Amino acid sequence: MAFGGNCEGVSAGRLGQGGCLVMAMRWRVAQCHDDGMGNVYSDERLASVYQPGNQMPQRSLRAWTELIGSFGARPGSVVLDMGAGTGMFSAAMARWLPVRAVIGIDPSVPMLTQARLAAVPPGVHYAAGAAEAIPARQHVFDLALLSRVIHHLPDRRACARELARVVRRGGTVVIRTTFRDNLDALAYRYWPALLEIDGDRFPGKDEVIASFTASGFAVSQLISFAQPVTSSLREYHDRLATRPGSKFTYLTDAVFREGLHRLEHDALAEPPSSPAPVSERYDVLVLTAAT
Ligand SMILES: C[S@@+](CC[C@H](N)C(=O)[O-])C[C@H]1O[C@@H](n2cnc3c(N)ncnc32)[C@H](O)[C@@H]1O
Repeated sequence: MAFGGNCEGVSAGRLGQGGCLVMAMRWRVAQCHDDGMGNVYSDERLASVYQPGNQMPQRSLRAWTELIGSFGARPGSVVLDMGAGTGMFSAAMARWLPVRAVIGIDPSVPMLTQARLAAVPPGVHYAAGAAEAIPARQHVFDLALLSRVIHHLPDRRACARELARVVRRGGTVVIRTTFRDNLDALAYRYWPALLEIDGDRFPGKDEVIASFTASGFAVSQLISFAQPVTSSLREYHDRLATRPGSKFTYLTDAVFREGLHRLEHDALAEPPSSPAPVSERYDVLVLTAAT
C-alpha cells in the first residue's frame, strides 16, 4: 500500500507486527498537507536546524520517554506522536518503551524528511497529517503525545475532538509544553519582545484543559518542572545562534542579533571552571479519554 503526493507511503511489509494494524488504519490522503495552515516548520532551514538545536542528553531524553510511557504505554501499545517533527520522541518511545508501534504524524514535509534521515528504529512509521484531521481510524491509539505542539494548533478544539476519536476509550493524551502561565525561559532576558510574543502564542493551562474536557477528556495529572537544557551559557549561546525554534521567526534579524550579542557577552564572562547549566520549564498535562 503506498500513497502519492505529500503523504508518505506506508508499506505493510516494513511494519512487522504492527503492519496489520497500520494497514487497517484508514489513512485519509486527501487531508494531508504541509503548509496549508501557515506552519512555520514547513521552512526547510528551520527543519534542518531544529534537531541539533533542540537535542537533549540521552539520559534526559530517556527520562522524559519513561515518564511519558508511565502515563499510559503498556506492552503492545500503539502510540501516536502528534506533531512528531524530526521524530526525537517517536524514535525514543520505540527504543525505550515496550510498545508495538509508534506513528509519528506531522504536517511539515521538511520536518518528516529530517525524521527519516535519522536512524528510524523498527516499529516507527511517519506520515503527513495535522492534529485537526488525524489520518487514522477511530480508537486505534493507546497513548498520544503532543510535545511542543499545542501552541502551533490553529484549532485546538478540533484537535481535542480528533484525539477523542482516534485514542481508545480510557486511553491517554500527554501534552508537553510550557503554558502561558509559566513562561520563564532565560531567552526572554536577551529577547524581551519574545515574552510578549510567546504570551500570545502559548495557551494557558485552563484554556487547554477546557478544550479537552469539552471532548470528554478528564485531567489525570498536571506537573511542572525545570529541566537542564545546556550545561553552560556558552553552550546555550551556540545552540540559540542557529535560531533553532519557531519563536525566533517572529524577531527581525537586527533584534535577533542584538539579543544574541548580549547573550554572547554574558557567555564569554562565564568562568569556564564553573559554568552554570541553563534550565527550561516544561508543563506536562495528562488527560484520560472518556470510557
Ligand atoms: C516545536 S516542533 C515539536 C516537534 C516534536 N514534537 C518535538 O518535541 O521535538 C512543533 C511541530 O508541530 C508541528 N505542527 C504544526 N502545526 C501542526 C498541526 N496543525 N498539527 C500537528 N502538528 C503541527 C510542526 O510541523 C512541528 O514539527
